[in-house]
Amino acid sequence: MTQPVALTINGRRRDDHVEPRLLLVHYLREVAGLTGTHIACDTSQCGACTVLIDGEAVKSCSVFAVQANDREVTTIEGLAEGGTLHPVQQAFWNEHGLQCGFCTPGFIMAAAYLLKQNPTPTEEEIERGLEGNLCRCTGYENIRKAVRSASRAMSGAKDEASAQLVGSAVAPVED
Ligand code: FES
Ligand code: FES
Repeated sequence: MTQPVALTINGRRRDDHVEPRLLLVHYLREVAGLTGTHIACDTSQCGACTVLIDGEAVKSCSVFAVQANDREVTTIEGLAEGGTLHPVQQAFWNEHGLQCGFCTPGFIMAAAYLLKQNPTPTEEEIERGLEGNLCRCTGYENIRKAVRSASRAMSGAKDEASAQLVGSAVAPVED
């Protein structure tokens, strides 16, 4: 017996009928065709399947597709905007924050969530924010480097934007 599920994935609404026991990760990969979300364990430990549900990082192998009904899901495919990589994606690229790349989508989603919550995390907060993700290639040092670099890029961009805002607010009026 199937059940209707209606959700928005990366800004696009979908309506499907699925088995109630279908996991969200399988729904994303096999029904929606979004294979950027990976599966690297069957114990909900690796974090390779991390996506955002209503902006919150969730291991998509730990929820049923029907539990995402009426929610907004963002996958790695939806992170870039208008052809521009998300700063976390760009930082992973710049800092070589990957080796085989299998864990990378999950790390990027978890890091994007971490930096949204806390744009300037300490080392300890980065460790804690990524503790639900495993890299079998053990490339943790470059992953942390990438998160630090994304944090600088994101908070720098914000500083610049607010400086411009303040600057324009106090700009002297020309005679
Ligand atoms: Fe979801 Fe490993 S596949 S945590
Ligand atoms: Fe290979 Fe992380 S880069 S598992």
